[in-house]
Amino acid sequence: MVHDTTVLMDEKRVFKPSEDVKNRAHVKDWDAEIEKGKDLDKYWSEQAEQFEWFKKWDKVLDDSEKPFYKWFTGGKINLAYNAVDRWIETEKRNQIAILYINERGHEKKITYYELYLEVNKLANALKNLGVKKGDTVSMYLPMCPELLIALLACNKIGAVHSVVYSGLSVGAFVDRMNDAKAKVLFTADGTYRRGKIIDLKKIADEAILQCPTIETIVVVKHTGSDIEISELSGREIFYERLVEGEPVDCPPEPMDAEDPLFILYTSGSTGKPKGVMHTTAGYMVGVATTLRNIFDIHEDDMWWCTGDIGWITGHSYVIYGPLLLGTTTVVYEGAPDYPDLGVWWKIVEKYGVTKFYTAPTAIRHLMRFGARYTNLYNLSSLRILGTVGEPINPEAWMWYYTNVGKEKCPIMDTWWQTETGMHLISPLPVSPLKPGSCTRAFPGIDAQVVDEEGNQVPLGKGGYLVVKNPWPSMFRTLYKDKERFLDVYWKDIPGCVYKAGDMVRQDEDGYFWIQGRSDDVLKIAGHRIGSAEVESAFVSHPAVAEAAVIGRSDPIKGEVIKAFVILREGNELKTQLIEDLKKHVRYELGPVAVLGEIVEVDKLPKTRSGKIMRRILRAQEEGEDLGDTSTLEE
Ligand code: WT7
Repeated sequence: MVHDTTVLMDEKRVFKPSEDVKNRAHVKDWDAEIEKGKDLDKYWSEQAEQFEWFKKWDKVLDDSEKPFYKWFTGGKINLAYNAVDRWIETEKRNQIAILYINERGHEKKITYYELYLEVNKLANALKNLGVKKGDTVSMYLPMCPELLIALLACNKIGAVHSVVYSGLSVGAFVDRMNDAKAKVLFTADGTYRRGKIIDLKKIADEAILQCPTIETIVVVKHTGSDIEISELSGREIFYERLVEGEPVDCPPEPMDAEDPLFILYTSGSTGKPKGVMHTTAGYMVGVATTLRNIFDIHEDDMWWCTGDIGWITGHSYVIYGPLLLGTTTVVYEGAPDYPDLGVWWKIVEKYGVTKFYTAPTAIRHLMRFGARYTNLYNLSSLRILGTVGEPINPEAWMWYYTNVGKEKCPIMDTWWQTETGMHLISPLPVSPLKPGSCTRAFPGIDAQVVDEEGNQVPLGKGGYLVVKNPWPSMFRTLYKDKERFLDVYWKDIPGCVYKAGDMVRQDEDGYFWIQGRSDDVLKIAGHRIGSAEVESAFVSHPAVAEAAVIGRSDPIKGEVIKAFVILREGNELKTQLIEDLKKHVRYELGPVAVLGEIVEVDKLPKTRSGKIMRRILRAQEEGEDLGDTSTLEE
């Protein structure tokens, strides 16, 4: 969906930060910081100094094999050591690292020292299972403390993690697991969702039948459901049993700066999910620097990012960024509207949350009742707000600014992606803000708007968003698919620049206004789903011969799926079949695939080579001109 930002936005309306915000800010002068960022080597090496290295790097940036950039080569470092061990020698030892809260109001506080013990025990247990440096471990877990512990335990011993979002279902799970070839899988008896318990293990059990590489399944008893040990198969073990009696110390594995850290799958234009590969040192530097400077993290902060760890937002800013900075991170398991629409604000008040980061879809969902729920709680602890995942409409921005931030908290509209690992375009707390714009590129980032030939377009004109220089936490490749990495991101636009896949416009002040994806990727409630993935879920139903899907605008979710199906002979698109198809797609992909509408057609627009032209369907849907139809089959 392309937002016509030109009509909606008032580019002249500017919000300036208060003196209080400016006085506290780590970065006082936006322009000067951007200027500093122009010297990549100097800027990023200064940032890298914040960590403890086992061995210092020889070279900050190695660009001898573009676009296979390398950062901090020769350096040796361990993420878990820097996120946990490093703090226990300091006054942070007894500070809360993880504050876990769920929709039932249960909480669990884990200090840095307790986290250290738990990570070490699990790291030792993983070694006993035969997990070695470079092996892949998968997680299909809810937002629970064990998920964070498991990720850190992997880093500690040099294993590579691959998290599958717990809202994805069997089909999506199998694709991701089999591509990553994990040996060990972590799952749980369930997760809390709007008063119910979703049985994750049941989904995992079904999926695993198609995942031959898994040797061990570790089951977290999270919701306390009644699975008995006797019900476990020979390769399953309860988490609590696994770590029982394990030593509480474990030396960190000294990792090469460029050793793989994790794989995270995301959707692209084709059906096959992309295994986005991140490596160790550069990722740490990028994530910690952006979080510190954009959300102005200090010792006394209570940081809450509502994103799920199943997505990059959760990797970078629920677990790694905050722990690398030694702050407290809130981990919330539940929906924004259960038991009621005030639940988030109640948490902000109760725990004194200072920095709050969420998605536009959640804001649109919560703003329907005006100030009714935000007024019930004292939100004065909040200092900075943030959004991510899709463009935020100015109306939602204003509601957030007025009712949540009480006109004193700047909103950081952060543009980034699974591939970028860290925020690339975002204001800083001292920046003048315009509702609906993610403002300017972060220091060290050269983002531009170009046409198909790679020429910069004049201010005010739309084009492709590209990044012209490397950054430390950029993904290094697509797992086992170098060719696709090169094809998708680096070849379309001449000059070996990173093509982000978004359309964008810059206004006269150089502020970026993101207009939406330029490819066939849907953004449903901020979640990224490929059209082709949804289409193959449809086609795997016996009644469907062919399917094409596009995004249809939705006032809350941003986009939902509109599907055009050609049915096999003998089927009719009646209520029963519509329900069946919805259930089937949900089974294959999970609740993230929100179906708005299914319509039956007897033909789909295709190119002569048989590719579905979703562009034509979209144009028809929006009542727009069909554009260039010369490649259309008929
Ligand atoms: C796509 C990346 C990065 C964390 C969550 C999504 C869209 C992301 C913004 C923003 C407008 C945004 C883009 C981008 N997007 N942030 N602030 N304004 N659009 O990660 O699933 O990899 O999706 O999300 O379209 O390409 P992701």
